[in-house]
Amino acid sequence: MKHQMAIKFLDLAAQDREIEGRLASEFASIRENTAYVGGPSVAAFEKEFADYLGVRHVVGVASGTDALRLTLLAMGIGAGDEVVTVPMTFIATAAAIIQTGARPLFVDIDPDTCNISTSALVKSLEQARRDGRRVRAILPVHLYGLPAALAELQEIALKYDLALIEDACQAHGARINLGGEWKRAGAFGDAACFSFYPGKNLGAWGDCGAVATNNDVVARTVANLADHGRISHYAHSAFGYNSRLDTLQAAVLRSKLERLDEWNGRRRRVAARYRDLLARTDLILPYEPEGSESSYHLFVIRTPRRDAIRSALLAEQIQCGIHYPVPVHLQPAARDLGYHPGDFPVAELVADTVLSLPMHPFLRPEEIHHVAGVVRRTLSGE
Ligand SMILES: Cc1ncc(COP(=O)(O)O)c(C=O)c1O
Repeated sequence: MKHQMAIKFLDLAAQDREIEGRLASEFASIRENTAYVGGPSVAAFEKEFADYLGVRHVVGVASGTDALRLTLLAMGIGAGDEVVTVPMTFIATAAAIIQTGARPLFVDIDPDTCNISTSALVKSLEQARRDGRRVRAILPVHLYGLPAALAELQEIALKYDLALIEDACQAHGARINLGGEWKRAGAFGDAACFSFYPGKNLGAWGDCGAVATNNDVVARTVANLADHGRISHYAHSAFGYNSRLDTLQAAVLRSKLERLDEWNGRRRRVAARYRDLLARTDLILPYEPEGSESSYHLFVIRTPRRDAIRSALLAEQIQCGIHYPVPVHLQPAARDLGYHPGDFPVAELVADTVLSLPMHPFLRPEEIHHVAGVVRRTLSGE
């Protein structure tokens, strides 16, 4: 019998059902004290998320893009500077660099992890040194939730005297084992930037983000820039921005944060099921190196038959996605940066072959089975 079950890529309503009670009381207390901007919910979320990550400060802002932009600005990065990042990311990583006046220096990704290649990075930094260019920071992306090679990146940043800023927008709760101790992505760099876009592992009911850091000056400067450069009500030390974390969003995030580990655990079980069911095929499955724990924001398979599988899934009403079909250096927006097709062969090949399967904490075993069955049947030409 043909299966007729539609399968969603994400199920935000299921998350919301789990937080309903707590959220109602959070909203009621905000209404009671009419603290609609700032207020205790924002401060409480910042403290709770900082504790969760194991960092000194979290500063809430209006989006993940602003978290990146304000962090770079707080570090004094701007015109004449270069910031290393990868072309295989959501465009906002590079956009934030451009918005400061600096230039993104793209480095290819590693074919196994799809994160920044540390050997390509070192080559690129050596070249920049020979050219006398001013590289200020490394901005690795923990793509799909898998932490980049953070221990190695810390060493490279130290050696070349660069800031290390994690784009952790897809990696809430991901971990790395360093010398026997598990630490969360977001606790390694000079700062880390998070997005709470609704579809993220920790997602709000709208746009917002945060900067996590152990650096007091960076935390203070980001908070200042995000709040009109304010030092007191009508005294301003800078012409800043209005990029505060919205109070109602902070209440949603507090309610979801207490579920994050459980939800990530369920994602890991979904990933393990997919791995079992998709074993012994030509697919490249997500790689998780020893000592790394992905947050499985996405479950991304790679195959030259991507388009055929995608069509077969869609025909069965199974939602899927491509993250991302065009690497940033080949986007029309990047035309003035001087990059060309072929500059980053791994990123370009990955963009041509990736397919994101449905992934969320509430995916049922029979749904996973159905998705994997359609993938396998398409591969075997049935
Ligand atoms: C890797 C990456 N960087 C940056 C962003 C930007 O975050 P936001 O959409 O909250 O501005 C996102 C999310 O969309 C992302 O996935």
